[in-house]
Amino acid sequence: MDKTLPQTTIYRQLLFFASQLNNYPIKSLFQLEATRFPNMTVSTGGLILDYSKNQITEEILRLLLRLAEERNVPAVRDAMFSGDKINISENRAVLHTALRSSRTESILVDGEDVVPEIRSVLKRMQSLTLKIHAGEWQGFTGKCIKDVINIGIGGSDLGPRMVVTALRHYRLPRVSVHFVSNVDGHDLESVLNKVNPETTLFIISSKSFTTKETVLNAQSVRRWFLDAGAEVSDIKKHFVAVTANVDVAESFGIPAENIYPIWDWVGGRYSVWSAIGLPVMLAVGVNHFMELLSGAHAMDVHFKYAPLDHNMPVLLALIGIWNRNFLGYHTLAVAPYHEDLFVFSRWLQQLEMESNGKSVQKDGEPVSYGTAPIILGNTGTNGQHSYFQLFHQGTDICPVDFIAVLKPTHSFDKHHEQLLANCFAQAEALMRGADPQKAKEYMLAKGIPAERVESLLKQTQFEGNRPSNMIVMNELRPETLGALMALYEHKVFVQGVIWNINSFDQWGVELGKALATNIHKELTGEAVYEHDSSTTGLIELAKAGL
Ligand code: F6P
Repeated sequence: MDKTLPQTTIYRQLLFFASQLNNYPIKSLFQLEATRFPNMTVSTGGLILDYSKNQITEEILRLLLRLAEERNVPAVRDAMFSGDKINISENRAVLHTALRSSRTESILVDGEDVVPEIRSVLKRMQSLTLKIHAGEWQGFTGKCIKDVINIGIGGSDLGPRMVVTALRHYRLPRVSVHFVSNVDGHDLESVLNKVNPETTLFIISSKSFTTKETVLNAQSVRRWFLDAGAEVSDIKKHFVAVTANVDVAESFGIPAENIYPIWDWVGGRYSVWSAIGLPVMLAVGVNHFMELLSGAHAMDVHFKYAPLDHNMPVLLALIGIWNRNFLGYHTLAVAPYHEDLFVFSRWLQQLEMESNGKSVQKDGEPVSYGTAPIILGNTGTNGQHSYFQLFHQGTDICPVDFIAVLKPTHSFDKHHEQLLANCFAQAEALMRGADPQKAKEYMLAKGIPAERVESLLKQTQFEGNRPSNMIVMNELRPETLGALMALYEHKVFVQGVIWNINSFDQWGVELGKALATNIHKELTGEAVYEHDSSTTGLIELAKAGL
């Protein structure tokens, strides 16, 4: 790109518009534009995005859309879909979209069509799933598999964990699926306490098969399994692996026929659509897994072909750019109003922060503008009763993505209306703020003495003008969940292109891993390294306590 983002004329124009916005709080934009809601709503794949409660005008939006064009979003998007090596620091294609493509497509990487291989792994996953569900896959004492434990971390945990949690209503009774990610032995202990080695299948999920946390957890469960009376030759009945590093998985003792490959063009945080999604298929069945893929595929098609001004991921990304780079908001909260989405914010944290938490452009030049916001969140209404106070009255503005699901899957009367009322009310309150006149009348009507009302008014006021998006779906189903996840994946992609960063590497996590390797050697007495006095002091404390 010839010019850096801040050097572009559009960027400067947008900065100018942002500086003029004091006179146009969001609520006044609604007064000026009677059709703001339909104008700023887009729907696809069973999702509706209402972005009208942002401090944005049609004019600003047009400029942002031009910015997307000027920063080559359509061209880079097409390059991603066609298998170009857009992950330049690792010289890799980025093809999670191929994992959910239709079987008739042909997608070439280094001249080879990857679709047949994807289909063949899917078939193997299906066959394993069907055998386990039919009780045909038996453990070392001839019993059926009842529990599946996924051992993995980061993308090899959060994707399947989030989906399995979100699709709770689709779980099949035959097996219970559990997840162990933390190297903290308490995590492993609490899961192993619930299962029987004779009826448990372990999935060792690691793209690299070198991630220390996963390798140690895998070794510990292997020992636990053998200590329970199984032979090494029984490992094939209880261990499968999902990895791009097949040789290392084999040397761990997992036979080739139990290894499900993934490929270097699948990023960890984009991998649930691959065999990393095996726990999902085992939990909800083959058909629901395929529906998840088809929901994501529908969003891919929309992203690829819809004009930018009706393109949901593009619009969501541009709103985020506007809030981050022009209005200066550093955080983004996600508030799903559906209990089964309680892992969603953790999944989104990795997706957004590991992808776009970067400060160097693709050409190695530092960025001079903000990149990924800090993502936080919890389900509504729980967040309302903890940190939403800051959203309404704090000194920092935190935009919120609300996710509303119109139809519940439970049968408790009255709950759902109350849930949705809270969701819509929060978005309205953030935008509108509290009206002092109404608050005064309310307090006086409640019998609060007039002199106290005056002092209370100062505490209770807030001006609103706090932006939010509302993503609405009819029902939380595999397809709508797939579409929702792909929506955020593509949003993150568009933002990465505009920021000119590589969204598909994660070099920032490496230093901590290297230092931990050294400190681990110090804790076990194998080596001594130089540190600052704090780190040395902490190592000594730990050694004294160990
Ligand atoms: O350390 C970060 C990371 O590489 C993530 O990007 C990835 O999802 C996670 O670790 C797990 O990696 P693997 O699947 O190779 O064990």
